[in-house]
Amino acid sequence: MRSYRIAAMGGDGIGPEVVAAGVEALKACAERDGGFTLEFTDFDWGSDYYRKHGVLMPADGVAQLRAYDAILFGAVGAPDIPDHLTLWGLRLAICQPLDQYANVRPTRILPGITSPLRNVAGPELDWVIVRENSEGEYSGVGGRAHQGLPIEVATDVSVMTRAGVQRIMRYAFRLAQSRPRKFLTVVTKSNAQRHAMVMWDEIAAEVAGEFPDVTWDKMLVDAMTMRMVLRPQTLDTIVASNLHADILSDLAAALAGSLGIAPTANINPEREAPSMFEPIHGSAFDITGKGIANPVATFWTAAMLLEHLGEKPAADRLMKAVERVTADPALHTPDLGGKATTQQVTEAVCAALRQAND
Ligand code: IPM
Ligand code: MG
Repeated sequence: MRSYRIAAMGGDGIGPEVVAAGVEALKACAERDGGFTLEFTDFDWGSDYYRKHGVLMPADGVAQLRAYDAILFGAVGAPDIPDHLTLWGLRLAICQPLDQYANVRPTRILPGITSPLRNVAGPELDWVIVRENSEGEYSGVGGRAHQGLPIEVATDVSVMTRAGVQRIMRYAFRLAQSRPRKFLTVVTKSNAQRHAMVMWDEIAAEVAGEFPDVTWDKMLVDAMTMRMVLRPQTLDTIVASNLHADILSDLAAALAGSLGIAPTANINPEREAPSMFEPIHGSAFDITGKGIANPVATFWTAAMLLEHLGEKPAADRLMKAVERVTADPALHTPDLGGKATTQQVTEAVCAALRQAND
């Protein structure tokens, strides 16, 4: 029997609610499959931990996480703590040392979900955004001087390395190659940013040479927003820098019907450290504790987790169960215009899993 250890970290806001739902669904997946077991360990790191200990996670936090096969993460961020502290204190403090440099964000219009795009049928929007997750605009390089004085100065430097760009391009081309259309769009802004983004383009062209069966094109990020809205059918796999992909992936989530559905995986492709799986939506304090958070993003990311572990049949089964549930408007949470609760959606997905006959 294969067995995996999963670190479950709800974090802040609705994070603990959706991670609890995700753990329930993953347990149902393992039971239904019968070929593997999952052992969960809960981690209480996040803003409450910070209020008690002055840090978002213990000093040996990353070392503790290395012992796991994967991390299921909820959200981090609280209204009373500056966002850059919570983000750099937990999420980026995990992603960066574990070198989860490929952030993967699939977008599809699931059955029963309405896209705000008129005339776009479900199958016409099927994308995967690959986000560079270790450097670029999020490198943390920069600083402030003369604080509080009229001559105050502040910089955020976008750092791109040849090795960093090469590895994310290879990951994206490989992913594009594995999808039926074998088509990659490289997002850039090399018209205005004339150093790092020009190198980004050059490396894309070099790496393209290693993948002769993948067709690719290049798109300036501003024009990309229009293409996503006006010609979604012309896109498949997309690779972009850290900040560009951050912005484009929110647009993608909205076009697919709700941020409540959008999953993400922070992948260490070499598997030298565990990868981390999370819903994109964040802490959502306006609905915290109400029991109405949409758990679908967490289920989808749980499916990505299973696939990463090599449990593809279980991952497919989970996605099918999710699609069966989204197809029923009576099981839509308020973000989708429905009245269902987190618990009702979770029970429905677990029931669909138990009934799955494949
Ligand atoms: C995301 C989020 C984060 C990011 C926020 C919470 C800093 O928007 O995962 O897309 O920008 O990376
Ligand atoms: Mg974002």
